[in-house]
Amino acid sequence: MCGIVGYLGPRAAQALLLEGLKRLEYRGYDSAGIATIQSDGLQVVRSAGRISVLEERLHEQGDLTGHLGIAHTRWATHGSPTETNAHPHTDAAGKLAVVHNGIIENYAVLKKYLAEKGVTCVTETDTEVLAKLIGQLYATGKFDLEAAVQAALREVTGAYAIAVVCADEPDTLIVARKGSPMIIGLGESSFIAASDASAIIAHTSQVITLDDYQVARLTLTDHGPEVRTTTIDNVPVTREVEDLEINLEQIELDGYPHYMLKEIMEQPHSLTNALRGRIDRREGRVVLGGISGYARELVRARRFIYTGQGTAWHACLLGEYLLEDLAKLPAETEYASEFRYRNPIIEDGTVLVAVSQSGETADTLAALREAKDRGALTLGVVNAVGSTIPRETDTGVYLHVGPEIGVASTKAFLGQVTVLTLLALFVGRRKYLSADTISQYLEELEKMPELITQVLKQSDYIRDEVAKVIDRENWLFLGRGYNYPVALEGALKLKEISYIHAEGMPAAEMKHGPIALIDQGMPVVFVVPSGSQYEKAISNVEEVRARGGRIIAVADEDDTNIERYADTVFRIPAVAEPLQPLLSVVPLQLLAYHAAVLRGHDVDKPRNLAKSVTVE
Ligand code: AGP
Ligand code: GLU
Repeated sequence: MCGIVGYLGPRAAQALLLEGLKRLEYRGYDSAGIATIQSDGLQVVRSAGRISVLEERLHEQGDLTGHLGIAHTRWATHGSPTETNAHPHTDAAGKLAVVHNGIIENYAVLKKYLAEKGVTCVTETDTEVLAKLIGQLYATGKFDLEAAVQAALREVTGAYAIAVVCADEPDTLIVARKGSPMIIGLGESSFIAASDASAIIAHTSQVITLDDYQVARLTLTDHGPEVRTTTIDNVPVTREVEDLEINLEQIELDGYPHYMLKEIMEQPHSLTNALRGRIDRREGRVVLGGISGYARELVRARRFIYTGQGTAWHACLLGEYLLEDLAKLPAETEYASEFRYRNPIIEDGTVLVAVSQSGETADTLAALREAKDRGALTLGVVNAVGSTIPRETDTGVYLHVGPEIGVASTKAFLGQVTVLTLLALFVGRRKYLSADTISQYLEELEKMPELITQVLKQSDYIRDEVAKVIDRENWLFLGRGYNYPVALEGALKLKEISYIHAEGMPAAEMKHGPIALIDQGMPVVFVVPSGSQYEKAISNVEEVRARGGRIIAVADEDDTNIERYADTVFRIPAVAEPLQPLLSVVPLQLLAYHAAVLRGHDVDKPRNLAKSVTVE
């Protein structure tokens, strides 16, 4: 939802903060700002727009000095993305500065309290209220900075990850979190705190994370860097030092024009990583060490609930289809944002599977907590190691596809579907699937990286085909069975980076109203590989064609029939139906990517979006 960086150490803070901010820009990018503690006190520079605008502003006004500072790249929730509303926000005395990721839900109440104390706010944001409250407590002289932050946070409801600096304490950086991510990098004689590891890994791989309602005071003393971690009630807590799993090259562009293209093209490699060590073909078994201790509960479960948002929700829907098909277990898919407020019924034997790339999506985290409170066994399918969701589930399986920087999820979706396929086979093997049947699926899974490489070779062809219809403003994406969630994902990809309106739905559903949308030349994408519903899908193709629609089909390499109906065909190798989504989504990822580039949009930072929605 936004990017936070804090630095305390021997080096000039500004350059490090800006470098870290750029690595976090994919998390939110409507405005930005920086504050450092200089010899002459607190200095703050902010700007609307991208970080490059902030850099220009600093160039014009003169660089900030100082070895302690914080910086923020914003995704506005309260108050438009203007310079005035950009973080950092300061206290009334202009001594301290705060950057924040999340929402202070009771900011109006706190604003009123402050006004009664004669402290007025000058911005439209919720965050400023927190800065003013910390400053008001600090100004009483009864609290040092750490205590003032703790006291202020005790009054706050909502979600926050914050970093705070103060001119009166030039050797202290305070960070805290509840509901939004915060990681603290431990250097030899420095600290770098940030919203995620991509801003830290260039400096250190030793990190500590905070749990909700925890505060860290980071200080440089005569005998080196000191970390004090407490709750907001000042109860000391111990936090283990962990080793970051990612490395710098994983977050570099490697010569690609965009992270999204890099992440699409590296899917054969990331899928190999997602499968590594998890297939025992000889024994006909799936090896998922993280959940093996729960095998009995999973096999005896009465119902699985898959929950997530956006692309993760599409993966959930495939998870549901896969579990029912391969393990014959009842399953359902829920939007986390709906599930959490619906007073859901969770009977004995319920398993909740929380699917998330970032592991920080607020609604998915809340749905997980709701199900856990009601007695469900909770299982996370997450990419970001050490993020909040996997720290709160009973068990889980990491994707291991590496950090995903592009806001539009691609390799993480493939990783989610891969893990959910393995999960269905893991349970299915303990119910009705024979070792031989499993081995056949596992053999095809092991070929997937090579098969995806074949599909990726069509990238230029896909670009040329998209160029023919790049002026169309409305698309439909249709599919049946396993191809329906893929159609939904294709529509979302196109929407979120090309801003073209696209709608996905079951192919049969089109007849119940949406067919009225079909006019001459309207692009309609059919995901129609071979399978149990192929003939019925072809009937739907003919219905669209009869009304002038332009048919773009994703079909098997050896399908000689489809050319009779489709204007364009993207080809995928023939595989077993349950494994088709791992291939059929790839042309749709490339379709969306090329459409966005042809339309001149910023593929990695689409308007209004952010990589991780850590607010409701
Ligand atoms: C994916 O292309 C979207 N950017 C978005 O829908 C995303 O999938 C959703 O916000 C869930 O994020 P998560 O997987 O990190 O929980
Ligand atoms: N709610 C704060 C604001 O709107 C923080 C938003 C964010 O997480 O970037 O400024």
